[in-house]
Formats: sequence, structure tokens, C-alpha cells
Amino acid sequence: MIPPASKVVKNPRAKHGFRGRTCSITAVGSYVPEKILTNADLERMVDTSDQWITTRTGIKQRRIAAANEHTSHMAAKAALRAMAKGGISPEQIDLIIVATITPDMPFPATACLVQQQIGAYRAAAFDIEAACSGFIYALEIGQQFIMSRTYDTVLVIGAEKLSAIVDWTDRNTCVLFGDGSGAAILQSRPNAHGLLTACMGADGNKADLLSMPGGGCRCPATADSVSARLHFLRMEGKETFKNAVNAMYTAAQESLRRCELCISRIKCVIPHQANQRIIEAVGERLGAKPEQVFVNLDRYGNTSAASVAIALDEAVESGRIQRGDLILLMVFGAGLTWGAAVIEW
Ligand code: ACO
Repeated sequence: MIPPASKVVKNPRAKHGFRGRTCSITAVGSYVPEKILTNADLERMVDTSDQWITTRTGIKQRRIAAANEHTSHMAAKAALRAMAKGGISPEQIDLIIVATITPDMPFPATACLVQQQIGAYRAAAFDIEAACSGFIYALEIGQQFIMSRTYDTVLVIGAEKLSAIVDWTDRNTCVLFGDGSGAAILQSRPNAHGLLTACMGADGNKADLLSMPGGGCRCPATADSVSARLHFLRMEGKETFKNAVNAMYTAAQESLRRCELCISRIKCVIPHQANQRIIEAVGERLGAKPEQVFVNLDRYGNTSAASVAIALDEAVESGRIQRGDLILLMVFGAGLTWGAAVIEW
């Protein structure tokens, strides 16, 4: 039985004259590839150690997609799991949004390939790109379509095959990332507030901190661009770290403020899974207890747009989140981009 939403929390949208319907996540699903790459495996590939990776990042292993397994395949698997859990048929889906920085190809959109693979032929489909922040950006976009009554059922997916753009000779980055996908079904659920608020931000002045320079129109693929290793992800780790802590903290605080909530009311904080030290720093600044914060990066590393989506599914599956609980999602990524969302589950 869902508790009456109005007794649980204030919906900030109501204050601003919101008359539309609310939007809930009615089902989630996730998928990670079978192949496990451990820190010991990486010790044999680059000049690193399990000790360095564990103490600097918290990561112990990550999943790596098979050569013939691409972002659309992983996205479709997570989507089918979410649909099965929610009892959603392919024909019910009105819109598919895939958040990714590793699309199967520059175009067509990975969302269209997912539409074909899950048989959701009625659905419109497009991709969005906000790097590791993509899942919250996609949730916020999806919920606008539900709240405006444009669509009844929106499928939001974060999916990445980062192993395809990681430079496996660069120890600064290759130890950090993994592959996987997570999906959420958005619908309006009677008597539930669902997604209460989402704060999103970006700072293009810091675009160079984290990027893949090659492959776009500025630097199309040539023999020179390949030999200069421009088609791999690059990151200035230290600066990115500082920005991640500040941006996630600020977005989370603003989300809580809008809902007139303090952190102690939040059952589960789900941060972007990039680095244990970032998660701890943001958690401490927010005043969250360690047991409020969900962490799975030791097993998957940073899966970018899939990160929070996989963690959300695991938190639900493990019983950490029950219907009616308040949860806080926080993300940060290339762009720079960031965001936070408060959800009444
Ligand atoms: N193994 C051993 N040594 C290493 C490794 C490694 N894998 N990687 C770097 N080092 C060395 C460096 O060369 C450096 O050596 P030096 O002092 O001799 O120069 C030393 O370790 C320290 O390097 P730092 O970069 O200062 O290490 P730091 O403590 O900052 O940790 C890290 C690096 C883990 C990358 C961290 O900065 C971080 O997590 N940054 C944020 C990442 C992030 O949040 N990304 C989110 C977005 S991702 C997206 O959008 C796709």
C-alpha cells in the first residue's frame, strides 16, 4: 500500500502552480557483461597495482563487453529486464531515450537500434549525451513527456561500452572504467509524487578536463588522428575530482532545499560511481551516514551514464529501497555536466 504522497513530502512542483500529472519510475532493470577484468589483470597490462587502484579509487574489478556485444545490445537487455519486472509490453512504450557517450555508431541513434531489438515499434527514439550525468538528464527529459501527458510510458536507459574508447595503454584512465547498462520505465502512478525534482547543470568552460577529441567533425578519423590516439578518452583526474565533489554537493543540496528535506529523511543516496573518495567526500559534506550511501563501484568501476541506473536497480533488488522511500541521485561527468534528483520511490 503506497502511503498518501502529500503526507510524506512536499512536491516542489506544486508550489510553482504545477497542474500536470506526476511521474514515477515504475520498474528498473540492469545488465552487466559476463567478462570480469580484475585489478590483478590490469597489473599485467599497465604499470599499476591492486593496492594503488583500491586505495585511490575503491575499484576492485569491472565488466568488459564481448567484442560483438555493443551498447545497444546491453541497453536492450537492461530494458527487457525492466519491462519484465514492470509487466510492460513493447507496444506500450511511447518513447525510448538512451543516454550514452559510446553509441554503437555516430548515427543512427542507439535508441533506434534498441527499439528494433526490443520490438517497441510504436516508440519514438533518440539519444542524449551528457556523459556520466546522462541518466539524470534523460530522466528529467522523460518525465517532462509524462507530466505534460504527451506520453504514458517512457523507457530511459543509460548504457555504455567504455572499453571501446578507453586507452588500454594509459594507466591514468584504463583502471577506472567498465561496461554495462541500466533502464527505468517512467509512468504516472496514482497517489505517488515519484520524481520530485531534478537539478541539472553544465560548465562548457571546463570541457577540456574530460573528453575524446577525435571522431567528431572537428577532428574526423584519419590515420594521423588514430596514431595520435585522439579516439580515446582523456581526463585530467585531479581537477575532475575537485569539480565532481563541488558540483554533486551543490546539486544535491539544491534538490533537497527545493523539496524542503534534510538529508536524514533520505533512505538511500545513490551517487555516480566514479571514485570511493569522491563518494565519501560528497557524503560527508551532505552529512549523510555511510549506511545511507549505496556503493557498487568496487564491482563495476565507472560505467558513466549506466552507473546510477545500475546502482538504482541493485538497490531496489537488494531491498535497500522500498516503495514510499525518499532517494537522492547525484551525477557528474564530462561537459562538465552534473545533476541531482530526489525521488519518492
Ligand atoms: N597506477 C599507479 N599509479 C598511477 C595510476 C595507476 N593506475 N594512475 C595514475 N598513477 C600515478 C600518477 O602517474 C601520479 O604519479 P606521479 O605523482 O609520479 O605523477 C600519481 O599516481 C598520482 O596521480 P593523481 O592523478 O594525482 O592521482 P589522484 O589521487 O588524483 O587519483 C584519479 C586519480 C583516480 C583519476 C582521481 O583523480 C579521480 O577519480 N578523478 C575523478 C574521476 C571522475 O570523477 N570522473 C567522472 C566523470 S567520468 C565521465 O564523464 C566519462
